[in-house]
Amino acid sequence: MEFPFEVDVVFGERITTVDQHLRPSGRRGPTVTQVNLQRQLMTIIDEMGKASAKAQNLPAPITSASRMQTNRHVLYILKDNELKPTGKGVVIGFLKVGYKKLFVLDRHGAHNEVEPLCLLDFYVHESLQRHGYGKELFEHMLQHERVEPYQLAVDRPSEKLLCFLRKHYSLRETIPQVNNFVVFEGFFDHQHAPAKKLPPKRAEEEIKPYSLTDREFLKEEVEPPWPLNQSRSLTRSSSLGNSPVRSCLKPFLNEQELLKNLRLCPSHSAAHHLLNGETGSPAAQRRRTR
Ligand code: ACO
Repeated sequence: MEFPFEVDVVFGERITTVDQHLRPSGRRGPTVTQVNLQRQLMTIIDEMGKASAKAQNLPAPITSASRMQTNRHVLYILKDNELKPTGKGVVIGFLKVGYKKLFVLDRHGAHNEVEPLCLLDFYVHESLQRHGYGKELFEHMLQHERVEPYQLAVDRPSEKLLCFLRKHYSLRETIPQVNNFVVFEGFFDHQHAPAKKLPPKRAEEEIKPYSLTDREFLKEEVEPPWPLNQSRSLTRSSSLGNSPVRSCLKPFLNEQELLKNLRLCPSHSAAHHLLNGETGSPAAQRRRTR
């Protein structure tokens, strides 16, 4: 992706790390003021965020400069000096991660409170996909964050990302979840901090089964997590492609298991209605997504 300013000046390094302060690491260019550099960085983040949302058929970007400022996320931005038709350098792609408190089901269906590093957004420019740039970004992130791929939770991965993880890191087997995060086999074996099992007597209302995803704010326009999205799956699948979460989880749960999981759902009756193919009013649907 090209910009009407010198990308090389905004980013001194091939892969630059950016946090909520929006100060690119390794930047140079004494003639450009810091304010200008930050404005340019914000433009890059906004444009890349839009391109990523478009590539994933999301109704709005989940990565933007303003969202970066209000979250403790880390962006890795990859640029290149050689691919520069205009001589200003190009941005190839980015990857966004952040730690999140999640309730994750283990293989036995028990809820575990964990705070893993989550892969939240990942994009390589269309013209440069399948050239190894995604792997370069991902490897850099793994080293910088000191994590192994199987320790990550992935926020609603696209089919391309699932292929990517399968190809480069042999991540195939997922552990079914009732939120939109996907974790892979090995997630619980290698947690840095031991996963905290929830006390068995804890009141159900205290358990938040659907941990907030970075895409949560899109819910009104997109959908609630599976299986509450089933009544809208047709419109959703045409607007967002096949939901890997849906396709990963569905085969694992029969109706009985599903109802067991939905005991933690804010509205049991809503789940029954959905299982029976009833959709309820739009207002009721909205309530169920929260
Ligand atoms: N179809 C299927 N698999 C693909 C595709 C594709 N169009 N593109 C990349 N891959 C997978 C394949 O496994 C591919 O290996 P192959 O070519 O041998 O089949 C492998 O990725 C290629 O690896 P890289 O070249 O290192 O990856 P790339 O630079 O293409 O980056 C990425 C991968 C970021 C997923 C990129 O394809 C992309 O931007 N896709 C569109 C946006 C997207 O889906 N992002 C993930 C959203 S979900 C989230 O961020 C949590």
